[in-house]
Order: sequence, then C-alpha cells, then structure tokens
Amino acid sequence: MAAPVEPLDFEGYGAVAKLLHWLIAALAVIVIGLGLAIPGAPRETAGREVLLTLHRSVGLSILAVMVFRVAWRWTHKPPPLPPDFPKLVALTAHLDQALLYVLFLVMPISGYVNAAAAGHTVSFFGIVSIPPLLAENVRLSQTADALHLAMQFFIYLGVGAHLAGALLHFIVAQHRIMERMLPQRRTQRRHDPA
Ligand code: HEM
Ligand code: HEM
Repeated sequence: MAAPVEPLDFEGYGAVAKLLHWLIAALAVIVIGLGLAIPGAPRETAGREVLLTLHRSVGLSILAVMVFRVAWRWTHKPPPLPPDFPKLVALTAHLDQALLYVLFLVMPISGYVNAAAAGHTVSFFGIVSIPPLLAENVRLSQTADALHLAMQFFIYLGVGAHLAGALLHFIVAQHRIMERMLPQRRTQRRHDPA
C-alpha cells in the first residue's frame, strides 16, 4: 500500500537561496578555522604564508558569493513565515540575519583593505594576484585590521544566536523553520517570489 502523502503545508526557500546559504555556511567554517590558525604559525615561515593565502582567498570568495547573494535576496523575497509565528521572534531572527549579511561583507572588505592599504598584493589561491586597489595608508590599514579582529566576535555571537534559534525550532518543531532551508521534500512547496 502506498504511504499517505502529507499535505503541502509549508513553503521553503528557493533552490538558489538554499545553495547560497549552505555555501556561505561551509566557507564560513573554513575561513574562521584558517583565521584562528594564523596567530599560531610563526612569522616569516612558509606555513604562515600558506595559511594567510588560503584564509584571504576563501575570504575573498565569500565576498564574491555574498555580493551575488545580496543581489539575489534583493530580487527574490523569502517565503512568508506561518501566520501564527511569534512577531517578536521573527523580528529578532530578521535583525540577526541582517547583521549576518552585513558582517559577511564587512569582514572580507576589512581584511582586503588591511592588506591593500598596507601596499600588499593579495594572491587568490596562487592563481591571480590582486594588486592594491587603494593608495597606501598605514592608518587605514591599521583601522581595517582592528575592525577585522574585533568583528570576529560579532560573527561568533551572530552565528551562535542564529544556530541556537535554528536548532531550537528544529527540536521544538512547532514550525518547520529548519526545513525551509533544507533540500526540498514532498511536503514542501517551492517559493516562487512574485
Ligand atoms: C568572511 C570573511 C572573513 C572572516 C570571517 C575572517 C575571520 C578572521 C579571523 C577569525 C581571524 C583571526 C583573528 C585573530 O587573530 O584573532 C582573521 C585574521 C586575519 N584575516 Fe580574516 N577573515 C575573513 C576574510 C579575510 C580576507 C578577505 C582577508 C584579506 C584579503 C583577511 C585577512 C586576514 C589577516 C591578514 C589576518 C591575520 C590577523 C591580522 O589581521 O593581523 N581575512 N580573520
Ligand atoms: C549549521 C549552521 C546553520 C544552520 C542550521 C542555519 C539554518 C538556517 C535556517 C533554518 C534558515 C531559514 C530561516 C527562515 O526560515 O526564515 C536560515 C536563514 C539564514 N541564514 Fe542560516 N544557518 C546556518 C548557518 C548560517 C551562517 C554561517 C550564516 C552566515 C552568513 C547564515 C545566514 C543566514 C541568513 C542571512 C539567513 C536568512 C536568509 C534570507 O532570508 O535571505 N546561516 N539559516
């Protein structure tokens, strides 16, 4: 006997939005891991240079994907939340998501400005060399560096709150929030933004 088909009772994000979300999540883990390993590598060693190049290259990849993601989000509205979803929770989640968008743009930009304003060329995975696109400016470089180092803690807080919220919804499972961002199921309607 065929299994009963559940009604199509909730809408998920579109395939592109999901792909971009999980791509950034994976790259975020890698870039943070590499970033945190940098201070442990002795200066003027090949190992540190490799770590720096990988960290900067993954960071710049994040910047490119984020620019595309912002444009995509601008033109593709997310699926509406269920009508009984608590307004305050929705507001908090949306503020955190907006913060994540800003942070994942500010972090790579500050990283690049730190290098460029110090007059350094940034190697993208050893394939392309990006010349400094700014005039040399030691103060700007130092400010960008300080911002880069400080902003990491906002990333930990922002991502931590986001993860905690997602997991809580998953465990409580009152609304199918996690499933909105997971691969499409038979019970999930695809969101077609108008
Ligand atoms: C989303 C993107 C990025 C994230 C989340 C990120 C995060 C981090 C973290 C967590 C650290 C370790 C900080 C510490 O020592 O406590 C770090 C260091 C560093 N990052 Fe990034 N980073 C990103 C992109 C970039 C980019 C694009 C560049 C350069 C083109 C860059 C250049 C650096 C450098 C040079 C350091 C060594 C520490 C220093 O600033 O003196 N980062 N980053
Ligand atoms: C394992 C880690 C993660 C899980 C389980 C997760 C889960 C989710 C879920 C379920 C949603 C949909 C919320 C809704 O229905 O409105 C979502 C949205 C979102 N997530 Fe994540 N996420 C993770 C990591 C990240 C990371 C690292 C970022 C960093 C940029 C991020 C940024 C966002 C943003 C900006 C949205 C809103 C999407 C939009 O409306 O454009 N997530 N996440």
